[in-house]
Amino acid sequence: MLSEAITPTTIVNPFQRAKQALHISVSAWVAIALIGQWFFASYVFVLYAFPIATGNAELVNLARPIMGYVAGDTFGNLMLFSHVIPAALLSVGGVLQLLPVIRKKYPAVHRWNGRMFLTLGLLGAISGLYLTWGRGARLSDVGSLGITLNGVLILVAAVMAWRYARAKQFNIHMRWAIHAFLLINGVWFFRLFLMGWYAVNQGSNGNSATLDGPMDLFFSFACYGIPMLIAEAVFWAKRQQLAFRVWAVSALTALGALITLIGIVAAVFMMWIPRISAVL
Ligand code: HEM
Repeated sequence: MLSEAITPTTIVNPFQRAKQALHISVSAWVAIALIGQWFFASYVFVLYAFPIATGNAELVNLARPIMGYVAGDTFGNLMLFSHVIPAALLSVGGVLQLLPVIRKKYPAVHRWNGRMFLTLGLLGAISGLYLTWGRGARLSDVGSLGITLNGVLILVAAVMAWRYARAKQFNIHMRWAIHAFLLINGVWFFRLFLMGWYAVNQGSNGNSATLDGPMDLFFSFACYGIPMLIAEAVFWAKRQQLAFRVWAVSALTALGALITLIGIVAAVFMMWIPRISAVL
């Protein structure tokens, strides 16, 4: 009887199980990221759009930005608000691009949302580079190098993702688009890494007030470098035929999801809620 019950179709092949584990760990990361991105979008909306809508732009300074609103500096203020307010749209829309259901069932939503995401991402990188090096909104020169490289890489990845979508080479498009997504969210990851690090250490450890301590410098590059390496590991695992390699990448992605979750909880309670409370 037992041998009848266990047929080849009921036995889950170990390789299939490894593939399932990879799928689950990547999906878990996307679900966690979606929640964290929408928290960030709400924070940006309340902190930056609310003061503008109520005609009290200087309220943003209650949250202690680097330069923030400067009375009389019309161009600088315009650049600041045109840099930060679209970030709310980027954080609401970007993660939707990763959901297969939207790509398959609503391709027009994927296309238009993708155009919006890449356009705002490109503009965000350009205005960010201006704020840092043109307006002088930086805490230290060396501490700004990581985000500067981030901005330059956004320009490269967004243009490449767009190019391959137009050329209908969707596998290459997807790879560049994932990297564009991770790079455009480098500033989000940076806050997660930093707040998560503070939470785990119960305070700063290797950080400085001007964000140029050894850990700050590490996070300023790792905030996009590590997510991009994990994404490449997932692409690599999908081409593998040996179960243990796929398991190894599943474990790495699950660890990434856990660190993302810790970072989100820390950023929500240690950064975003306290800053919103200062403005409201
Ligand atoms: C496209 C991706 C980017 C997004 C979505 C983004 C989003 C944001 C957000 C939401 C803030 C406000 C931060 C807060 O209140 O915690 C901010 C501030 C800032 N960003 Fe970006 N950013 C991006 C890229 C960059 C780049 C590449 C640079 C520099 C090279 C940059 C430079 C700045 C600066 C200097 C500020 C602070 C302005 C101030 O406080 O006066 N950003 N960014």
